Amino acid sequence: MREKIKESSKQQRETLKFFDEKALDWKAKALDKKKEPRVNVIKQRNDFALHVVNNRNETDMVLDVGCGIGDLAVAMGKLEANVYGIDFAPGMIDIANDLAAKSGVKNVKFAARDFFTMSIEDELYDMVIANGFIEYISFAQRDDFFGRCIKILKPGGSLVVSSRNRLFNLFSVNAYTEQEMKERVIGDLVRETVAWNMKPKIEEMLKFTPVPLTDPLIEHANTGVGVSTRYQYTPVQLIRLLAEMGYAVKEVSPIHVHGLTPQMKNEWPAMHVKVANALQERALNNVTMLGQASAFMVHAVRVQ
Ligand SMILES: C[S@@+](CC[C@H](N)C(=O)[O-])C[C@H]1O[C@@H](n2cnc3c(N)ncnc32)[C@H](O)[C@@H]1O
Repeated sequence: MREKIKESSKQQRETLKFFDEKALDWKAKALDKKKEPRVNVIKQRNDFALHVVNNRNETDMVLDVGCGIGDLAVAMGKLEANVYGIDFAPGMIDIANDLAAKSGVKNVKFAARDFFTMSIEDELYDMVIANGFIEYISFAQRDDFFGRCIKILKPGGSLVVSSRNRLFNLFSVNAYTEQEMKERVIGDLVRETVAWNMKPKIEEMLKFTPVPLTDPLIEHANTGVGVSTRYQYTPVQLIRLLAEMGYAVKEVSPIHVHGLTPQMKNEWPAMHVKVANALQERALNNVTMLGQASAFMVHAVRVQ
């Protein structure tokens, strides 16, 4: 099984090629140098990870998996954590090293590594972060990732992951919605969205029956990222997977909350940005917003 996971899949090959070639574009997106206001999803995810650090007792050792240009790792380094950022795209790591050198932080290191082939000492980290990562790995790799993270985290250590949100396929009223209609899960997605809307405790949602996982061979409509398979999860799917692996799920938080549908957003981009940014200011751990969020964050803890 382990050998099979190590084989590079078409999905991972496309991911490596795309992010290596587009590293400079990713830098422009992450660092947001443009004058006109926009929705910065990378920053929204980073802000959640920083919120977790700020609310933990002590965070000494941090691993950022799929660290991209290293912006979050550098921000964490400024909070005194020792951060190791890894990404299998050398183009990303070149930029990350440059960013760290310019910022002057000394406690942040980067390396071009594939998470699935590197060895990591058990109980080394207080926190593992993986923003924008699990959509690019297979279901077997995801289980391997969650399973290894619980070993490399110290007891009480935090795992922070982002995910594309499958519940958003209802609100998006587009090809993604049609795909869910084909899979005959619209009713189930509505049920989960309604349940989150009741402001439940996370423990209650862990008892909720999730929709079946998507077809592993699914190829979604292109959203500007040149990778044919980018998985989505519903929040219940993800928190149940984590709970089954032995994590205690602490927080679920919406990312990129939309006021306008993607079609309306194309017609009135400035209005979309204004509304989405205003909604995001109220989004931290506000699960009633999950139905309109195109992504979400989960914070889970290794219990003992
Ligand atoms: C969407 S980007 C997110 C980058 C960064 N975390 C952020 O939020 O800006 C996903 C990153 O994961 C990296 N990645 C994907 N699979 C990986 C793997 N198996 N090992 C290491 N990095 C990987 C990609 O190269 C890419 O830079």
